[in-house]
Amino acid sequence: MATLGRRHILQWLWGVPFIAVILQISGILFSYGLPRKKTGTFGTVIDIGSLAEMPTPVDIPLHHSRGRFWLLNNENGLVAIANTCSHLDCLFNWNQEAGCFICPCHGSQFDRQGKVLSGPASRNLDRFPLLVVDADGQVIGQTSPEGKPLLLPSVALRGIPADSTESLAGVQVLPRVQVDTSRRFSGTTILS
Ligand code: FES
Repeated sequence: MATLGRRHILQWLWGVPFIAVILQISGILFSYGLPRKKTGTFGTVIDIGSLAEMPTPVDIPLHHSRGRFWLLNNENGLVAIANTCSHLDCLFNWNQEAGCFICPCHGSQFDRQGKVLSGPASRNLDRFPLLVVDADGQVIGQTSPEGKPLLLPSVALRGIPADSTESLAGVQVLPRVQVDTSRRFSGTTILS
């Protein structure tokens, strides 16, 4: 009787890894079946226009609500700043009079780079990587691994750049700029 009981326990113990493997395989198959994120929505790479459509250093920051970022061009390049406060995730706004971002929840302020000017937030704002792609979708420029502002190719932002490519119809095609909202640089590690 005792042997029978032990055999049952052993059989059960052998079954556990088998069930675990089945569950793991089911999980993988299920995740493949999940619908992919819709292109152009938060969590994907979002096309934000051609080089000529990018803001200049004198333009005020543009809020991209679908992508959940603020786009702005500083003297040192283009940045896409995540639109949630580094304190407790409130949505902050650009205050043109003060010339900085101000969070309505507890009053933290951030400069145009996303650096903390005053708390309670203690860390800079997060940033999303930017990509510049040519007409074939090849990446010809991107944010550095440190998340620094992206210097756009040396182009007259309001004209046809020298490195524009030609489409089949013979029309000049400007490189396009994209924001990868599936990845981000933490404000804690961004230095400039
Ligand atoms: S959530 Fe922005 S200051 Fe607290």
